Amino acid sequence: MNSMTSVLSEDARRRINREVEKYPPDQKQSAVMSALAIAQDEHGWLSTDVMDAVALHLGMPPVAVYEVATFYTMYNLKPTGRFKLTICTNLPCALQGANVAAEHLKRTLGVGFNETTADGRFTLKEGECMGACGDARPRRRGLPDWSQVELHAAAGAG
Ligand code: FES
Repeated sequence: MNSMTSVLSEDARRRINREVEKYPPDQKQSAVMSALAIAQDEHGWLSTDVMDAVALHLGMPPVAVYEVATFYTMYNLKPTGRFKLTICTNLPCALQGANVAAEHLKRTLGVGFNETTADGRFTLKEGECMGACGDARPRRRGLPDWSQVELHAAAGAG
């Protein structure tokens, strides 16, 4: 272990190794999304040092890890609030009021997209399709009592 891989705890490296074992030995990089999720669980967000540690652990060029981390909205590239609210504003969700709900949340929380409330509780994000187009409503990440927020958003969307 060197100083770069030590950015990841022993537990994180063990969990990543379990993901790596799901793929052929010459395709360790296939575990990159899981590895980034594990690293984010541990650090709360993905700093360059953390992404570099993932790259080193998987034997990948760092830029290849950056490409994945910057493409998917579930990865945090900077610190976030305790709860991250991500609202899909793609067409099916927009047609069902996602933009109205987003504006309501912006007003209620006093933040715009990619901003965190002053108390550090909520970060509001604009997301891409989450594969829940049939439901076509705002989605949540890491919020235990979503029904309350959803009710308030729906009330604001009316
Ligand atoms: S378009 Fe919003 S979840 Fe698919």
